[in-house]
Amino acid sequence: MSSLYPVSDAASPHPDSQQPLRAELAAGLLAATAHTAPKYFYDAVGSLLFEAICQLPEYYPTRTEAAIFSRHLAEMAQAIGPGGTLIDLGAGNCAKAALLFPHLHPEQYVPIDISLEHLRSAVQHLQQRFPHIEMTALGLDLSLPWRLPSEVRSDQRLFFYPGSSIGNFHPDQAALFLRQLRAACGKDGGILIGVDLLKDRQLLHAAYDDGLGLTAAFNLNLLRHVNRVLGSDFEVGQWQHQACFNADLSRVEMHLAARSDLVVSWSGGRRNFARGERIHTENSYKYTVARFLELLEMAGFGRAAYWSDPQDWYAVFYAKAI
Ligand code: AVI
Repeated sequence: MSSLYPVSDAASPHPDSQQPLRAELAAGLLAATAHTAPKYFYDAVGSLLFEAICQLPEYYPTRTEAAIFSRHLAEMAQAIGPGGTLIDLGAGNCAKAALLFPHLHPEQYVPIDISLEHLRSAVQHLQQRFPHIEMTALGLDLSLPWRLPSEVRSDQRLFFYPGSSIGNFHPDQAALFLRQLRAACGKDGGILIGVDLLKDRQLLHAAYDDGLGLTAAFNLNLLRHVNRVLGSDFEVGQWQHQACFNADLSRVEMHLAARSDLVVSWSGGRRNFARGERIHTENSYKYTVARFLELLEMAGFGRAAYWSDPQDWYAVFYAKAI
């Protein structure tokens, strides 16, 4: 039996619920270094572009993570143990979690996504394939304060966070987020998380500035999403995608640079951009295994087990709450 719950405003927007988003966007655009939150990548077009990026030869994280799961899933299942509640953070089409079901045998599956609409058909389809698993879909924006409703069983919770989405948080926010997960785990829960590792800068650069220009389109499309939420008048043709690896901060940065001097306006605000001035749209932090183990321990998890690929490009960590 599956059920669907919009938990946050972002899951079912209405005019007033957009006001905090407009305020957040305006504040970011007016900051000394203009910036936007990565959640604005993921409108309908952006979500499709991201799925396409995941198929690109340059974007190694998706296929590397998939290979780690297919090679080591039996060992992971042994470490985790059967049953419990599998809580899938940023579930999307639920495909990654579905691969775990035959090994982990969860009693309850809780996919969470910012868009409940996105989850609806995936969950209905999945419920037919796995009728014995209780499914409770939640619409939740994980970048805002969140809580799990009482429908989510409290024993043996396993938080599943694949795709290296943790890399899109600043390390301090990542630590806070992991601490929140640790608190929501209870005493017999755990976390199974995919993390992109630090590697050669050319590989990193190519992954975020691919030859087909899909990542450029993904970055530029954010401006159209911002226009719809904020009522601004960005023109995508006036902006250029830029990606660079910042070695000091161990992160790939994405920016949009103005192609000429220009003005962007919205109701109640405007900003002049000089040619070359940038909007910082995303950080994607890359970790060493040691650094991520430390982060998990600082968040209150026990010593993690981890599995990586032969080139050590990517790792999947499993840590129990202690
Ligand atoms: C979702 N996230 C982990 C992706 C990343 O690699 O940071 C988003 C992305 N940005 C550009 N390409 C992919």
